[in-house]
Amino acid sequence: MNNTPNTNPHTPLPSITPGQARIGIFDSGYGGLTILRQIRQLLPQYDYIYLGDNARAPYGSHSFDIIYRYTLQAVQALFQQGCQLVILACNTASAKALRTIQQRDLPTLDPTRRVLGVIRPTVEAVGPLTHTHHIGLLATQGTVNSGSYTLELHKLCPDITVTSLACPMWVPLVENFEYDSPGADYFVKKRIEGIMRLDPDIDTLILGCTHYPLLMNKIVKYTPPGVRIVPQGEYVAAALRQYLMRHPELNTMLSQRGTCHYLSTESPDKFNQSATMFMHENVSAEQIEL
Ligand code: DGL
Repeated sequence: MNNTPNTNPHTPLPSITPGQARIGIFDSGYGGLTILRQIRQLLPQYDYIYLGDNARAPYGSHSFDIIYRYTLQAVQALFQQGCQLVILACNTASAKALRTIQQRDLPTLDPTRRVLGVIRPTVEAVGPLTHTHHIGLLATQGTVNSGSYTLELHKLCPDITVTSLACPMWVPLVENFEYDSPGADYFVKKRIEGIMRLDPDIDTLILGCTHYPLLMNKIVKYTPPGVRIVPQGEYVAAALRQYLMRHPELNTMLSQRGTCHYLSTESPDKFNQSATMFMHENVSAEQIEL
């Protein structure tokens, strides 16, 4: 495995033999593992490469330019490693970088490769779930500021009221392995109460950051009964399965040995310890420089 991929945008990508391509899953850190787990549960036959940019996480409060640059570097690294398809398992990257990468970068990098995000599949699934037509979004500052969820939800269901609240402390709690600590209660309670105060009619709460399901015990504890909590993993996995069914030309490119390889920009020891807990299986990552 080449762990020093060339991320120079002018370097041609190595061509992939049909039946040998892998699916890349990218997140700023550990959060995308919540998506990877669901995808592998539904589609265990494929081969995956997970890339966590843990050394530069969190992305949530960075500017558009930085998030776009970091995300493009990660996508290029995954392409260099033989991925035909990359899922941005990160809402912040999906909100801030996906469209530019799809429209501006992919045509020159390799028009046959694909990059998909997590916002669209979540929005498509969540619209029909609300009875009050009041939806709450908990996400990073970057995702909230982008307005992507509100925009996409209104395209599908124009009468829905969307209330968004950023939870800047939640990702650091996960990245620093404090998600189950008593200290986390304070930050989770504060944000759940905060969003319910902004709109008491909310009956559906989107966890619009892939790190948040790791705080699920605490989120459930402070969410009023009757409010549905929506993590994204199962919707993203279902959307991927449908996408591959609709694109047989892409599906035939993919290798099917059921493996998963992990890359992190952090030291492997730190990554392995946390990822092993999150994935409930032994994780042995390689370090990568972007
Ligand atoms: N897990 C990511 C998301 O879904 C990013 C969190 C961060 O790095 O701030 O937005």
